[in-house]
Amino acid sequence: MYNVRKLTDDIFWCGSNDHRTHLFENIHPIPLGVSYNAYLLIDEKTVLFDTVDWSACRQMIENLEYLLQGRPLDYLVVNHLEPDHAASMQVVLDKWPSVKVISTKKGLLFANQFGFAMDKIECITVKEGDKYSFGKHEVTFVEAPMVHWPEAMVTLDLTSGVLFSADAFGAFIANDGKLFADEVNFERDYLDEARRYLTNIVGKYGTSVQALLGKAAKVIDSIKIIAPLHGLCWRKDLMWFIDKYNHWSKYVPEEKGVLIVYASMYGNTESAAQALATKLCEKGVTNVKVCDVSNTHVSYLISDTFKYSHLVLSSVTYNLNIYPLMHDFLDEMRMLNVQNRTVAFMENGTWAIKSGELMRKFVEENLKKMTILDEQVTITSSAGADKEADIEKLASAIAESLDTVSTEV
Ligand code: FEO
Repeated sequence: MYNVRKLTDDIFWCGSNDHRTHLFENIHPIPLGVSYNAYLLIDEKTVLFDTVDWSACRQMIENLEYLLQGRPLDYLVVNHLEPDHAASMQVVLDKWPSVKVISTKKGLLFANQFGFAMDKIECITVKEGDKYSFGKHEVTFVEAPMVHWPEAMVTLDLTSGVLFSADAFGAFIANDGKLFADEVNFERDYLDEARRYLTNIVGKYGTSVQALLGKAAKVIDSIKIIAPLHGLCWRKDLMWFIDKYNHWSKYVPEEKGVLIVYASMYGNTESAAQALATKLCEKGVTNVKVCDVSNTHVSYLISDTFKYSHLVLSSVTYNLNIYPLMHDFLDEMRMLNVQNRTVAFMENGTWAIKSGELMRKFVEENLKKMTILDEQVTITSSAGADKEADIEKLASAIAESLDTVSTEV
């Protein structure tokens, strides 16, 4: 059954929702599913903006056949060549062989690399600022390198004000009938999945996201709708969501609060982490989240690290090293360029306790602009009453330093 929605009078969502894939990029869990958004403009020419993942190809083709009503597809604009959007290109090229493909030079190069039969197709290479008319609608192309791949661009429809924003402004959610963010309680139900998507997929490239936001700011009055390649479209409160992007891409915390991540083998390090959370709450610091590194997928930890201003890492010593899953989390932070956070450490071990020293060294050597609190809790096997003063001291230091951090962008 075809499944489309009207974005404007003559632009239609014709993508697909995916609840079958469990791991996005074969890494990130997507419990709310994911949508692959493609959009069709019906003007004097018919124009498809991006395609969908291979798993969703049949749905998109059915949608296109319904919308085109026998008309040929004249153009395919490829904003982003990653296969979750471009894998179905070849089917489109085979079905409408007169289609002209518009993309950046690198986009067309990547299309060849992925094995699409581009030699049989008329290709139009576009660059920053180029304009193209499809009849009533004129679009302009804006390069967006490293948001999320180097070939990426976004397309602004100057006639309708729709910004086809590629990966930017997406989320790990299936739309399930909805199209616009104002049809749901986005902040309550979907913001976490928008943050988890952005920070894990493009977190490393904050500067590139900032460059794109800078270009968007110059034409912000022309943008009426943001239409990303995943998740919901934005026609209201654009600046609210742009502000979130500013926080994430500038590595500024969204909230003053504390994320406590613990690595515990027998519950003793966990118990100390919980005692710290309690002491923080007793001091009025209730924006505290506690996560077990062993049963929380690292993509959630990364997302919360981008959200909160403070991070406490509490790890048992394991083979004279940091607990492996805690080390993985630290390494993921390094790869995703996490910076500008206040960090504290708790360590545990029955002999040769090393994890605190090693975590501190890792943060000092690999993460930028981190503030490390001097107060550190060392536990020998289990935290008894003798450790209460140390945990209390750490809670006080965190509470005091919360007043010194800024969430302004
Ligand atoms: Fe949704 Fe970078 O692809």
